Amino acid sequence: MSLLLFSSFARGESLEQWTESQKIISKVQILANISPPDALPGTVIASPHRDFKPDGNDALNYYYHWVRDAALTMNTVLDIRERAPQSEQTFLETLLRDYSKLSRLHQTTTFEHGLGTAKYNVDGSAYSRGWCNPQNDGPALRSITLGRYANLLISQGQREYVTSHLYDGKIPTQSVIKADLEYIAHHWQKVDCDLWEEVHGEHFFTRMVQRKALIQGAALANQLGDFAAATFYLDQAKKIETAIEAFWNSKLGLIVPTLNYQKGPQKPKNIDSSVILGILHGQTRDGFLKYSDPKVLSTFRKHIEEFKKLYTINNRSEFQGVAIGRYPEDVYGGSHFNGANPWFLLTSAFAQICFLASEELRNQGDFVQATELYNQGVSFLARVKTHSANGRMSEQFHRDSGYMDSARDLTWSYTETLEAIWAKERVSKKNK
Ligand code: NOJ
Ligand code: NOJ
Repeated sequence: MSLLLFSSFARGESLEQWTESQKIISKVQILANISPPDALPGTVIASPHRDFKPDGNDALNYYYHWVRDAALTMNTVLDIRERAPQSEQTFLETLLRDYSKLSRLHQTTTFEHGLGTAKYNVDGSAYSRGWCNPQNDGPALRSITLGRYANLLISQGQREYVTSHLYDGKIPTQSVIKADLEYIAHHWQKVDCDLWEEVHGEHFFTRMVQRKALIQGAALANQLGDFAAATFYLDQAKKIETAIEAFWNSKLGLIVPTLNYQKGPQKPKNIDSSVILGILHGQTRDGFLKYSDPKVLSTFRKHIEEFKKLYTINNRSEFQGVAIGRYPEDVYGGSHFNGANPWFLLTSAFAQICFLASEELRNQGDFVQATELYNQGVSFLARVKTHSANGRMSEQFHRDSGYMDSARDLTWSYTETLEAIWAKERVSKKNK
């Protein structure tokens, strides 16, 4: 708790000073959570937080490799590599290679939920106790990240490595990306567990990343001469697109998070930030549900209204911006189920949407809305700054006190915040 007394807010640092140091701290904290000494190389722990209850209940233990968190993290590692000095390239590329090898090992580990397995122990075995499975966003996010890695290797003249380890173009396949793409293309219609690991149904977030994975996978398949597969992947992506359109509810002015609900917490308001994450991580920049799409912006604004009302800390005049959580009915407080809080990663995701939509609107000549959104993005980042302490971020911060709560040093908090800061920089450079 002592960290909190020295929060960046108290230090009176400017936002610019904060983003500069936050970039460095985020990178350090992300790398610290990859390949820890007691884990197989390539493992990404969700957080160093270990919490084994005497009764064996470890629902609050974060010392595992979640397929989703790991894929999103390694995608940010690819972005870190693009900006890193020459002296760090070999190290970063080793992490990526280890991650790709570990991912293949995970795929070949026998477990009833197969490629949809939500998380793995740090020794590489599947987490086989009760859990919300399958989570089909995992293979999609993993193949998006590894597809980018494959492109990097091809650009470095390592095509051979790609066709032997990452995408062999064979059925049955021995390669990690092809295995994920086949799984997605053949199973996407299925009901699964959502990214919050609670609700069974059909989820917008999952469909968005599945569509992106297949579109990107088709491009890779074409490049490597697997033409029939490319056509098949694109056909399925088109079908997913039609399925995604059904999530728009014009009466509510919202993209809803789940259709064909089966079980799990009910969300009568249909407000769930996972929709915004779906826009970010499922973005293909081909016009389909772009950041500035009126449906996206309407959904985004309705979320802000709702979260503003929800948390005490959103109504304290000394703080800028709005703190964002998962969904209004949420009760998961990180270390208990007595009430949920806002999350760093979600507040940073909202900042990103602002900057990215602002960029699109400015390119379309809508300078007024572009500026408004840019400033709103800055206010979300100011919010993140307020509740973090010395650059450190847990998963949640308390809805009433604003102090950090829940699993400490959540990898995903750092990746989403780093991406938000980069998005801000890109837009502000262009504004000059
Ligand atoms: C319960 C939470 O509601 C869920 O979202 C989370 O993933 C698990 N606990 C594990 O931390
Ligand atoms: C809980 C979140 O609900 C889930 O999305 C995440 O994968 C795990 N924590 C691990 O960070």
